[in-house]
Amino acid sequence: MKSKPLVFATALAATLLAAPAFADDTVTIGMIVPMTGPSQSTGKQEQAGAKLYMQLHGDTVAGKKINFEIKDDTGAADVTKRLAQELVANDHAAALMGFGLTPLALAVAPIATEAKVPEIVTAAATAMITEKSPYIVRTSTTLPQASVPMAQWALKNGIKKVVTIVSDYGPGLDAEKWFGSAFTAGGGTIAEAIRVPLKNPDFAPFLQRVKDDAPDAVFVFVPSGFGSVFMKQFSERGLDKSGIKLIGTGDVTDDDLLADIGDPALGAVTAHHYSVAHDSPENKAFVEAFEKANGGMRPNFMAVAAYDGMALIYHALEVTKGATDGDALLAAMKGASWISPRGKVTIDPETRDIIQTIYFRKVEKVDGQLYNVEFDSIPDVKDPYKASKH
Ligand code: PHB
Repeated sequence: MKSKPLVFATALAATLLAAPAFADDTVTIGMIVPMTGPSQSTGKQEQAGAKLYMQLHGDTVAGKKINFEIKDDTGAADVTKRLAQELVANDHAAALMGFGLTPLALAVAPIATEAKVPEIVTAAATAMITEKSPYIVRTSTTLPQASVPMAQWALKNGIKKVVTIVSDYGPGLDAEKWFGSAFTAGGGTIAEAIRVPLKNPDFAPFLQRVKDDAPDAVFVFVPSGFGSVFMKQFSERGLDKSGIKLIGTGDVTDDDLLADIGDPALGAVTAHHYSVAHDSPENKAFVEAFEKANGGMRPNFMAVAAYDGMALIYHALEVTKGATDGDALLAAMKGASWISPRGKVTIDPETRDIIQTIYFRKVEKVDGQLYNVEFDSIPDVKDPYKASKH
């Protein structure tokens, strides 16, 4: 008789202990990406990249089970914000990641700051994003990081007069500014700086103007997923055959879209941080596993940034031994360095942006398929925008 209450008490204590213990054993990571709308290729690639990291490295880190929640913001900033609030308040997410376009990443910055939750930007690339919250860390890139090397390459390769064409929002304005200032500082001329609306872009009228300007090259930035429209109109207007070179950041010759763009992309020279054709054992293993897990789909730079974003969160959780305190996670992320499928990368402890190799690539046909074939590189490139302020 005496033992009964004791058994009961023990069982109750076990139940009380078990509830928080269960919650403590799980860490929620929330990914918010556009899975519908014009940036859906970004959502698809990001999701697949992060999931592949978990598939290859297990879903348990430092004894914690990872609960990975993926949400579709349809590319609308008010939805991104609401989803981020829900993930933090209801799911107690320890980190948020993704954000397919600059305005979507910016919408989450105040939530990251207030909740002290790391916001890992794995897509958006306007340079100033990381300044909007001390909890933002970026594993993608910045536009100045590729635009300045592209200008330097153009100057060294006999290109004297350029027309720039960019999508008219944050990253496009960065590309225009940083390419333009580096190119003119080196003696080049910008004949015209054209901005095209991000939504439903029609490049045709602008391309006629480019023809009239007769530059040596057109420098272009459009975000991932929008390159086909530009390239098709470029070739329909006969610009690909007019002797005007196509140069840009690698967003326009996105690996995921090259097959759809087809031969008009041949010969385009771009500067970027990742090509599916990157020749390293890490990248070969990554591409093979990615294609196997995704029905043959090619990874692009968005997939790699999300794969690395997940790698960074895993690393931070290992350092904190599974603790999810935002400041501790941030401290572990600053200065982290690893070998990514794109090569060596480091999180700049000062700026929380990524230091990485920028490659020069040319679109070529290899075994009947189009690739951005790397032919030169600059190691350890920091974001020039922040470097200019330090
Ligand atoms: C952005 O909106 O910051 C962005 C999106 C896609 C890109 C580059 C930048 O390819």
